[in-house]
Amino acid sequence: MVSQIRFLMCAPDHYDVDYVINPWMEGNIHKSSRDRAVEQWNKLYHVIKDHAIVDLVAPEKGWPDMVFSANAGLVLGENVVLSRFLHKERQGEEPYFQQWFEQNGFNVYTLPKDLPFEGAGDALLDREGRWLWAGYGFRSELDSHPYLAKWLDIEVISLRLMDERFYHLDTCFCPLANGYLLYYPGAFDSYSNRVIEMRVAPEKRIAIVEADAVNFACNAVNVESIVIMNKASESLKSRLAEVGFQVIETPLTEFLKAGGAAKCLTLRVTEPIGEEIYANASVESRVIRMEGHLLDAGLINRALDLIVEMGGSFQVLKFNLGEQRQSTSAAEVRVSAPSHEVMEEIISQLIDLGAVDLPQDERDTRLEPVIQAGVAPDDFYVSTIYPTEVRVNREWLKVQNQRMDGAIAISQTANGIVAKCKLLRDLEIGDKVVVDVFGIRTVRKAESREQRNSQEFSFMSSGVSSERRVEIVVEQVAWELRKIKDSGGKVVVTAGPVVIHTGGGEHLCRLVREGYVQGLLGGNAIAVHDMEQNILGTSLGVDMKRGVAVRGGHRHHLKVINTVRRFGSIAKAVEAGVVKSGVMYECVKNNIPFSLAGSIRDDGPLPDTQMNLILAQQEYSKIIEGADMILMLSSMLHSIGVGNMTPAGVKMVCVDINPAVVTKLSDRGSIESVGVVTDVGLFLSLLTQQLDKLTSPYVANVG
Ligand code: ARG
Repeated sequence: MVSQIRFLMCAPDHYDVDYVINPWMEGNIHKSSRDRAVEQWNKLYHVIKDHAIVDLVAPEKGWPDMVFSANAGLVLGENVVLSRFLHKERQGEEPYFQQWFEQNGFNVYTLPKDLPFEGAGDALLDREGRWLWAGYGFRSELDSHPYLAKWLDIEVISLRLMDERFYHLDTCFCPLANGYLLYYPGAFDSYSNRVIEMRVAPEKRIAIVEADAVNFACNAVNVESIVIMNKASESLKSRLAEVGFQVIETPLTEFLKAGGAAKCLTLRVTEPIGEEIYANASVESRVIRMEGHLLDAGLINRALDLIVEMGGSFQVLKFNLGEQRQSTSAAEVRVSAPSHEVMEEIISQLIDLGAVDLPQDERDTRLEPVIQAGVAPDDFYVSTIYPTEVRVNREWLKVQNQRMDGAIAISQTANGIVAKCKLLRDLEIGDKVVVDVFGIRTVRKAESREQRNSQEFSFMSSGVSSERRVEIVVEQVAWELRKIKDSGGKVVVTAGPVVIHTGGGEHLCRLVREGYVQGLLGGNAIAVHDMEQNILGTSLGVDMKRGVAVRGGHRHHLKVINTVRRFGSIAKAVEAGVVKSGVMYECVKNNIPFSLAGSIRDDGPLPDTQMNLILAQQEYSKIIEGADMILMLSSMLHSIGVGNMTPAGVKMVCVDINPAVVTKLSDRGSIESVGVVTDVGLFLSLLTQQLDKLTSPYVANVG
């Protein structure tokens, strides 16, 4: 029986693979046989004619892909949104399709120039007429989706395509009658898969395997219970049969060479309008502004990549390239995201890059009160290491105590309104906490090109250094240490027991003694093994001179702890002359504050070890205050803790033998941190050698 359903097709008179605009076309230029293509197309034409009415649009010479009439536009009722092809190779088809639609009484909408949308190739109606699924990522732009919603008065669900083989939505997604959905999940990003799963019940989802997907099984024409496609595996056919669909296979191999099959070769032009549908697109757009050395520092590329990686899309509205070498550039970028949720994620990352959300620029930040002590309101803005400002009562306030992983709390004090980073546990009932992402900006230092290239720490932007670069880094760190010392600055060291085990103790002692270190952070272990070595000559029971285990040596560290406990503190043990050398000795003698955070192994602990982690945290942050540089020496967890409390701008050097640790620590997205993969004992020894070479005082030449 022929139903009243109509399809538009275009005969393959001029069909060929003439260019490459998708991966299927690669290597296939002029490789398809015209005769076979005509034969396959005719067969498809007749199969469809058995079930529906077929209209034809005249093929045009020079436009070989015009056979793929799915890309003519998107039809709903009397309305059609005409395609705007991304590639110039197909743009010439537009007027021919437009003419056909107009001659056949359709109301044609055309999108703004430069806003690609490839018709029914990228937009598929739910067969129950409930909504429109629209793809983006390769051909159609996300920003076209709100137009579809408005003109066709329908809800649009945006799906992001990730696999370039499935560059059009109809190559991997096919809504079927009765609410079924045939699709290839591997073609979509995880967010889109979640959206699909939320909309389509599990029993209605027919997920296919890659082998079927590459045969274009999803590129199917569905007329009631018939599903017409190039090819399907036996298991797919039986899966479809189970739910009442009959597969008709008709080979379309010649068209696969251009990246299309059954569905691409047809356009359904009778699409009934659903009953209770309404215009709605969850696509959101915002305009952000960025300023600084956008090109030199790679900020703009990072911002644009980030938007796309997170599932959004962008349009650069303005880009003002600084005229002189020293000038900064400014950009305004329109960001679109498929939902509010994704938009929030994108914007908060862009803020980290220094972007300002433009319309919000005139808006105050949104505040919500804390209603349970120690718990922030949902959607609270998570602070970063970058200097941040928030807009309260039309004024930008600098956030105090800048640190990572906190909430920003606003309070009224005698000196006016204050914004402060607070840890979750410190939030008190009544505190007002910044939520959402409005009225928040981070301030990125706009150093000049010269500064960046000449500064000692310019090498730091290159991230993790290993092997041959170690010496260069050591040289730079030595200069930096010298400079900080000469200017009365502050260097804090985080050290693990490995410093002692690898023989780095004596070098660290020298750094402390010679005034290069202003604070020491660690745990119970570094202090214990340091004193063990200096009292008993072993480190964890190993003789440090001979490198062999000493009999009974495994008890050494406990004996040391016990001795120090007898005196009541490390300082007292030093005073009593029990501890005569070592890192802890030097700290005590030189009045260098230290904090030992915890011992989960619970050996002892030393009387100085702070077993209350919250208090330990407080001690740490007190010592870090005002630091110019932090040297992280083989102590992963203490260093991560320290990294989180340290605002951007503080130079960090992370040394560890394990590259994964170094990467983790130095990857703060800030140029002031560098990782060094090497033995920490060796690093310290090279560092002291290097410092010895710096005889003449460093002369400051920047500032
Ligand atoms: N060669 C054509 C292109 O790349 C194939 C179009 C396939 N059409 C479709 N609806 N998937 O544009």
